[in-house]
Amino acid sequence: MEAFPKHFLWGGATAANQVEGAYQEGHRGLSNIDVIPSGEQRFLVASGKLHYNQIKEGKYPSHYAVDAYHHYKEDIALFAQMGFKVYRFSIGWSRIYPHGDEEKPNEEGLLFYENIINECLKYNIEPLVTINHFDVPLHLVETYGSWRNRQCIDFYLNLCETLFNRFKGKVKYWITFNEINMILHMPFMAAGLMFDASENRDEICYLATHHELVASAKAVILAHKIDPSMKLGCMLAAGNAYPYSCNPEDVMESIKMDRENYFFADVQCRGFYPTYALKQLERNQITIPFEENDENVLKEGVVDFVSFSYYNSLVATSNTELKSTAKGNIFASVENPYLKSSEWGWQIDPLGLRITCNILYDRYQKPLFIVENGLGAIDQFNDGDIQDDYRIDYLRSHLKALKDAINIDGVDVLGYTTWGCIDLISASTGEMKKRYGFIYVDADESGNGTLNRYKKKSFSWYQEVIKSNGQNLD
Ligand code: BG6
Repeated sequence: MEAFPKHFLWGGATAANQVEGAYQEGHRGLSNIDVIPSGEQRFLVASGKLHYNQIKEGKYPSHYAVDAYHHYKEDIALFAQMGFKVYRFSIGWSRIYPHGDEEKPNEEGLLFYENIINECLKYNIEPLVTINHFDVPLHLVETYGSWRNRQCIDFYLNLCETLFNRFKGKVKYWITFNEINMILHMPFMAAGLMFDASENRDEICYLATHHELVASAKAVILAHKIDPSMKLGCMLAAGNAYPYSCNPEDVMESIKMDRENYFFADVQCRGFYPTYALKQLERNQITIPFEENDENVLKEGVVDFVSFSYYNSLVATSNTELKSTAKGNIFASVENPYLKSSEWGWQIDPLGLRITCNILYDRYQKPLFIVENGLGAIDQFNDGDIQDDYRIDYLRSHLKALKDAINIDGVDVLGYTTWGCIDLISASTGEMKKRYGFIYVDADESGNGTLNRYKKKSFSWYQEVIKSNGQNLD
């Protein structure tokens, strides 16, 4: 029996702002991410608690990243050597619309992505395009207030229309927004939101969320109109919340914690706001300004597949004395005593991937796509001999769990793209030493280094995994 489905899409994933660099080349405009510094103030700016104008002498890792802008051919050739069937990358909005509100796109930006797509197709690699991955033109932030402003829907759709028309016939799989639920945790990084001291943050976040949900649904409708064979996905920072104990109070807390995240996918997959969300908004006196056609748009624009990132599970409890000491992909939670943690304190839970797959598939009955999973770790360079066995162990254990989700539970999974298949800038910390790749890049977050690429031990391991279609994970 095949371990994974015959046409399983194996590959890797990156995001524009974390790999491209060249932030002022090709008539690219500035974006929100370009003003988020590395270092201690990163989280404050990313979460909208500190205005980026107040940063003195900040270092901005997105300006350099790993210079994929000039190295993409070399990088894609290496992905092809590993046998990638799919490469997930994102569009830098301000490369195509430097200000975001222009009528005509910047041809140089479009050409850059066309070249990436053509390069993928040359090697029979399916491009999986994230339309928006933590990226808003700074002009839209400063002039319109970003996604709090309904006009952003039109600007985003303009971008979508340009992309769908230009790349129809070449790109089948699209993701409308990366980790759409991140807006509640990192509102500036995820959606360019800033707040006045007097404002109700939650209210602004849910207002902006509504605009993104409508934009996402409209993008689905538009894509299907332009090319009915296109497949559109939502994308969620996933990882289930376990109850800390079998105390029903803890179980209820875990349901609530999950709903905070599933709310987004519930709307994108089912086409309407779930009742628990309506009740919660009402309790918090938040009114979402639904416009006349929004309900129909949400209903019509449901996604074709459910993609998600999975790094860790969470733990929920009603016991307020238990503190959230475990870190994870942004969300902190109470520590799970049964699990080990990464160097950055993210708890490692391979079975949690199988559990998350089951819960998402039971909930939506749509094909899943795991578009991020991986281990951020410090690698020893040793003259280019990088023995990253810990990364192999991490990926192997997660792939075994995924295999069980497919073979034992019957979950429909389209593919698996590891996060940061080539080393890149960390989104949460802005560091370069937090590496995820099969390919090491000699670079730091300040633009120093030769930018040379080196294969790590995990490179040939993943090559074998793909070659055997997941049969050989050892
Ligand atoms: C996800 C993001 O949150 O996790 C990526 O979609 C990010 O952009 C990844 O890089 C890993 O997180 P970090 O903070 O280790 O880079």
